[in-house]
Amino acid sequence: MDFKKLFGYEEKNVVITGSASGMSKSATEMLIELGANVYAIDINPIDLPVTKAFKADLSNKDEIDKVISELPSKIDALFLCHGIAAFPGKELLVQKVNFYSQKYMTEKLLNRISEHGSVTFISSVGGFGWEQIYPKAVELINLSTWQEAMQWYDKHPDEIKSAYVFAKQCLESYVTYKCMSPEFIDKRIRLNAINPGDTTTGLTDDFNKSTSPTGDAKEGEEMISNIFLKSWNGYPAKPKDMGYPLVVIGSDICSYMSGQLIYIDFGLTSTWKSGALLSSSNKTIEEISKDSN
Ligand SMILES: NC(=O)c1ccc[n+]([C@@H]2O[C@H](COP(=O)([O-])OP(=O)(O)OC[C@H]3O[C@@H](n4cnc5c(N)ncnc54)[C@H](O)[C@@H]3O)[C@@H](O)[C@H]2O)c1
Repeated sequence: MDFKKLFGYEEKNVVITGSASGMSKSATEMLIELGANVYAIDINPIDLPVTKAFKADLSNKDEIDKVISELPSKIDALFLCHGIAAFPGKELLVQKVNFYSQKYMTEKLLNRISEHGSVTFISSVGGFGWEQIYPKAVELINLSTWQEAMQWYDKHPDEIKSAYVFAKQCLESYVTYKCMSPEFIDKRIRLNAINPGDTTTGLTDDFNKSTSPTGDAKEGEEMISNIFLKSWNGYPAKPKDMGYPLVVIGSDICSYMSGQLIYIDFGLTSTWKSGALLSSSNKTIEEISKDSN
């Protein structure tokens, strides 16, 4: 079997953001290896042999528009991977980087995405429970301009207080809401997201600092470990643990997969879900086991 052919990236135009570091860098390396023409965008310099690298701040609409004007007229796969941690006072910036720019780029590039193409996002386990904000997210998603969205954010300070969480929940809502919209489904364009668990990347230090109430990286690291790793005696993922599956999901291998939010967290969120389902049944695990005997 010819594995490069199986992936289907050879000679295909792929656009990917966040390639300077972390998960996206791993994905970009794999895409190059698989023979894609890679157009990579980041605010920081990209040191990989891509077809074309763009330096742009993707929180800025004008910079996004400029890059878009220089991207190819046909795109086969789009990967939106740029992201930042949340710090007090940066709530709006986090919405722009971690969600709105990604929706904006998807919709601006949609008419260039080929039939049976794919759009794949990096969301997060931080978006777990996205169902709770779904109606609000749909309200935001349905606004048609960047300006209207910024006004919406201005009027909803309470929603964006949970900055990182809200942005990732919007991203997960977007995949769910849009996967069968005519503009995607009529061209068989697939829309998916991966939701990584704790991964050691360029963002780790910022996540540690932003998790601690006092900004202390050591304390934040301990808190993250308690939430994401302690319960399963676990370990943080490496960038390729996320970057490689991302490339698989955007490829022809997953040609019938769309609308999926794929948690890559060694099962942690399934355990959270299991706990919630059992507690809503008001029965203990022992009682449920007894009932089934
Ligand atoms: N690291 C984790 O534990 C973790 C867990 C879940 C989800 N994620 C998500 O994974 C994605 C990738 O992050 P990572 O962990 O690989 O971190 P990373 O910092 O290594 O990579 C993120 C990239 O995004 C770029 N970027 C940030 N702001 C930008 C902007 N305004 N314009 C253009 N580029 C910008 C950065 O320069 C960087 O290259 C992010 O969306 C993040 O939220 C990370």
